Amino acid sequence: MVGVGLISVGWMGRLHSRAYRALPDHFPELGVRPRLVVAADPVPAAREQATERLGYERAVADWHEVLTDPEVDVVSICSPELPAPRDGGRGGPGGQAVLDREADGPVRQRLP
Ligand SMILES: NC(=O)c1ccc[n+]([C@@H]2O[C@H](COP(=O)([O-])OP(=O)(O)OC[C@H]3O[C@@H](n4cnc5c(N)ncnc54)[C@H](O)[C@@H]3O)[C@@H](O)[C@H]2O)c1
Repeated sequence: MVGVGLISVGWMGRLHSRAYRALPDHFPELGVRPRLVVAADPVPAAREQATERLGYERAVADWHEVLTDPEVDVVSICSPELPAPRDGGRGGPGGQAVLDREADGPVRQRLP
C-alpha cells in the first residue's frame, strides 16, 4: 500500500486523486495499491468532498498535517498558493515523494 496525501481539493487535486485510484487498473504490473490517507483544504465543502466523494480517510484544514502524517508516503501539492517542489518548496520531515501540480515537466522528486 502507498499512502497518499493531497494538498488542495480543487480541480487539480481531484485529477490527481482520480489518477491514484486508477493506478492498479492502468499499471497492474507495478503492484501499487494506493491508500488515500488525508487531504487538506481550508474550505469545508472541499474537505467534505475529499472524504465523501474522493475516498480520503480524513480531511484537514492545515496542509502541514499532510506533510507530517507518518502514514503518508507520497504527497500531491495541488495548491495555487504553495510553491511547487521544483520552485524551491519543501515537503515534510518524512522525506515523502512529492508530485507537484504542473504537468509540463518532471513532476516527481524525493525531498530531503
Ligand atoms: N486546472 C488546471 O488545468 C491546471 C493545470 C496545471 C496546473 N494547475 C495549477 O494547479 C493549481 C491549482 O489549480 P486548480 O485548477 O486545481 O485550482 P482550483 O481553484 O480548482 O482549486 C484550488 C484549491 O486550493 C485550495 N486552497 C487554497 N489555499 C489553500 C491552502 N493554503 N491549503 C490547501 N488548499 C488550499 C482551495 O480551497 C481550492 O479548493 C494552480 O496553481 C494552477 O495554476 C492547474
